[in-house]
This record gives sequence, C-alpha cells and structure tokens, in this order.
Amino acid sequence: MSNTIVSSKIFSVAARVNFMRVLHVVGARPNFMKAAPLLRVLRSRGVVQILVHTGQHYSANMSEVFFSQLSIPAPDVNLEVGSGSHASQKAEVMLRLEPVVLDQKPDIVLVYGDVNSTVAAALVCSKIGVPVGHVEAGLRSFDRTMPEEINRLITDQISDLLFTPSADADVNLQREGISVEKIHRVGNIMIDSLVQLLAASRQCAKNGFPERYALVTLHRPSNVDDNQVLKNILEALLEINEELPIVFPVHPRTRQRIADFGIDVSALHLMDPIPYIEFLALESRATVVVTDSGGIQEETTFLNVPCLTLRDNTERPITTTLGTNVLVGRDNVMLRQEMTKILEGKAKKGTVPPLWDGRAAERIADVLKGQSGTAPICSTSGNLPRKEI
Ligand code: UD1
Repeated sequence: MSNTIVSSKIFSVAARVNFMRVLHVVGARPNFMKAAPLLRVLRSRGVVQILVHTGQHYSANMSEVFFSQLSIPAPDVNLEVGSGSHASQKAEVMLRLEPVVLDQKPDIVLVYGDVNSTVAAALVCSKIGVPVGHVEAGLRSFDRTMPEEINRLITDQISDLLFTPSADADVNLQREGISVEKIHRVGNIMIDSLVQLLAASRQCAKNGFPERYALVTLHRPSNVDDNQVLKNILEALLEINEELPIVFPVHPRTRQRIADFGIDVSALHLMDPIPYIEFLALESRATVVVTDSGGIQEETTFLNVPCLTLRDNTERPITTTLGTNVLVGRDNVMLRQEMTKILEGKAKKGTVPPLWDGRAAERIADVLKGQSGTAPICSTSGNLPRKEI
C-alpha cells in the first residue's frame, strides 16, 4: 500500500472525527501511563473509544492499580494472554485480538511503546488493513539483542502514523525509509501523566524513608536472567547500601531470579512493585535513581533527579545529552565513581527536552482530528527542521 493511500485513508477518517472509533491496545505496565492521557483527551473531544487490555501484565500491582490511579476506564475487552515465551505471548495476542478488531471495526488502532503486545497488535491490524498509530515511535537502542528493539523496528515499519517524542526519533525513522508524511513529533506522552499526578505524589507520606536514598529498579533480561551478571550488580548495590540506603521495588521477573539464584539481598530494602503515584514520590525525592528501565530515564530527566542507567546503550539518548542520565553499563567501577560524584554534590545537571510539557496527548488528538499540527514533520534532509506544533 502506498503512503499516499494510507494517508488519505487516515485523513478521510479524521475528517469525520466525531464518528471516529479509536481502539487502544495496552498490555504491560509501561503502556498504561502512555495511554491514559490520550484516552482522557479523546474522551473530552467526544471520540468513541474501545480499550483492549491484552493481559500481558495481570497482577494487581502491575496493572489494576495503574488503571485506578491513572483514571483509566476498565478495559472493554481483556484478552488475558498472561505470561509465556515471547512467541507464545505474541501469538496469543494476535489470535485473540484479530476477532475483536474485525468485530469493532475501528477507524484506527493506537499502540504504545515497545512491549510484546504493541508489535502483536500492530501486526494484526496491518494484515487486515486497519490503520495503526504508534505512540512513542522512532526510539532505537541499536541493540537487536534487546527484545524491545525488535518490537520497535517492526511496529514502526508497519504503522501508518508515527508519533515521536523527540527529534532523534524522527531521524531514526527517516533513516529506515519511513515517509515523513507519517511522522508527527508530538513530545513525550509519558510526561503528560507525570505532570498530571506529580502534585498527588507530593502528598504521599514519607513512611519512615530516610532523607537520602538510592532508588533502584532492575528488570531487563540482560541484567537479571544471567546469574553472574545479576550477582555482580547486586554486589555493587550491597556495597553502595553501606553508604546510601537502597530502596528497591522488585519486578516479578527479578524477584524470581534472585530466588532462583539464591542471592542474599536481605540488607537491601526490597519491596513489591509499587503503584504509580507512590513510585513518583519515591523517584522525585531520591538522591539518585539506579535503573535499567527506559521510562525511568525519562522521568528522572524531567524531575531533574540524577539517574545512573545499568545499560550500555539507551533508546532515549536525549536523556543523556540534555537530561540527568549517565550510562554506566555493567561497570561497577564506573557506577561507584558516578555515585561518588552525586554524593559529593557534583551530579550532572540537566534540562527538560522540548515538547516534554504535558501536552503530547493533545497534539496527538490534533493530528487525529486533522487540525493545526497535523502536518507531518517536513524535511527531506537529515537536518530535520521541526514543524512547529
Ligand atoms: C515487559 C516488557 C518490557 C517492560 C516491562 C515492564 C516485553 C518484551 N517486555 O517486560 O519492555 O519494560 O514489561 O514491566 O514486552 N509477571 C508477573 N505479573 C505480571 C506480569 C509479569 O508476575 O503482571 C512475571 C511473570 O513471571 C512473567 C515475568 O514477570 O513471566 C515477565 O513478564 P513479561 O511480561 O514477560 O515481561 P517483563 O519482564 O515484565
């Protein structure tokens, strides 16, 4: 299908926006804070919406609590795919989603981020000719051993509208041959949720937490699935803990691995995954955040909290060029050095990237509606002058 045909299909749909049916697919924890703002804005504009939860994340503390704190309506459909290998999880999403899309006949399906549910949903729709909009398009770590990188590459290739958070994402997409017509730089939608709930997070009690602490999150397969790698990281954290208490909400995958490998982390303050607002409170008050998450690199940049990322690469380079993020890989010496700088008050200073302003969802809604800001980024050179929106 040519780009022109795709675009005209989308925009003829957008022209009758009041009758537009938008189907959102979410599945895993990091999707929820990205979908919430857009669900809210589209609802306020009278758009008919159908919310599908794939059930990739199903525990109350990985899913339900986010729906309630982010005021996301209960899903219209829950595919209940649960956990499994990547192939089986994606296959189940595809098998169970296809009849829903055929039945609901949406004008467009919106998918979020880079999780297995995202690419599976995009594949279903691209095969049955339903336009797909990818929110948080264009991010690249250039590391194809990372499952999310494959999900991003495929989702972007088969999506019809690509909503990007920053200029680097536009460049990545164009380098991969994606037409500028499809690309809309709208800013970082996750920051919309953060902006909305930051005040609520400030109300959270400190619950006896120390004044200064390091907040840790860890769940990348490359960090937690290998016994020796995980041991090395935890040893470094145990050492840091003697100087700066570690607060560590543990992802289920990581909890399982710590148990499997029999590693003693009783000296650290471990807790179950925590809800969005409480996590924001811990994050914004932390002396430093040590993480391998993608979204947390962005949140700390916005909050101006130092972030040490336990990865060799990032699909969010703007957090290192403009923000507070430093990549320390799996180098315990570098982690210690960067930690010392922070404790000595010499943390890297950062600024908030352009369009991380809490209004990304409105810009996406404008694109869907075909109002101002609907024109795609316009450039054929690598320089990419930005379309003002
Ligand atoms: C998924 C995403 C990752 C995202 C992360 C956030 C993919 C490829 N990965 O990784 O990009 O950063 O979510 O959490 O989509 N489990 C539970 N309860 C749940 C969900 C999972 O206990 O609600 C456990 C299960 O044992 C499961 C394991 O966590 O096998 C991993 O879950 P899975 O969805 O496969 O991937 P994540 O590691 O969560």
